Amino acid sequence: MTTPIIRTLSELRAATHAWHMAGETIGVVPTMGALHDGHLSLVAAAKAGCDRVIVTIFVNPKQFNQASDLDNYPRTEEEDARKLERFRVDAVYAPDVSQIYPDGFSTNVSVTGMTDVLCGAHRPGHFDGVATVVTKLFTQSSADKAYFGEKDFQQLMVVRRMARDLDIPIEVVGCPTIREEDGLAMSSRNLLLSDRARVKAPRLSEVMSEVADQLSQGVVFSELQADAVAKLDLAGFTSVDYFELRSCADLSMLERPTEPARLFAAAWLAGVRLIDNIDVPVAG
Ligand code: PAF
Repeated sequence: MTTPIIRTLSELRAATHAWHMAGETIGVVPTMGALHDGHLSLVAAAKAGCDRVIVTIFVNPKQFNQASDLDNYPRTEEEDARKLERFRVDAVYAPDVSQIYPDGFSTNVSVTGMTDVLCGAHRPGHFDGVATVVTKLFTQSSADKAYFGEKDFQQLMVVRRMARDLDIPIEVVGCPTIREEDGLAMSSRNLLLSDRARVKAPRLSEVMSEVADQLSQGVVFSELQADAVAKLDLAGFTSVDYFELRSCADLSMLERPTEPARLFAAAWLAGVRLIDNIDVPVAG
């Protein structure tokens, strides 16, 4: 079945109004396209949890802090629609910029505190762009549930906080990171890696797992951090934006996983910024 593509807010509202009037629940999967199996796992979760499913595809200019990054972002709409066929989603919402940011658009949604660290510290304005577009996608779709990957764990936290703070009646569902066989976290940005860089990329998740193992054995994080960065350097990563152990509750820094914690990393490989995070079991 060909997936229906909706381009305008008025068509989207007509569809979602009819579904809600019929008593059906709506799930939304926000994406920027270049769909991979990670996205498709979100679609599968939405199909299992809702009567109707909308996948949004919108490359959001407000969340890119470099024009070249926005220009280079992969755009593969036809292939994306083909990948979605087997899921029989009810609609792909692929608006142009005017449907999201009409002339004169002047509103910014900014979640404070948790956006000062990790990607927020390295990509100024990025999370304002994410929070603003996700607010629009939530209110435009009037969905009951929204599905996000834990691969972007900080984004998931920001979106949850935003929905709670703004009383948007939506359940934000987090889904596990999907990985390639060699451990590399799936990401649309992986398409930008050269063949040579692609071979080196799994080292990021390997080093993170090695550090997680040592933390489980009681070694403190400050004794592991420099060595982890050196291993990434040796593997060909040109710079490491961060490699940190943080609390899952509030993203505060930790020395030991004495509460639910994750290792977070962002590193550059041949001009591509890769991010990943993994759960670290709470030490007894
Ligand atoms: O994770 C993404 O692809 C984007 O940040 C999102 C949530 C679709 C907002 O543009």
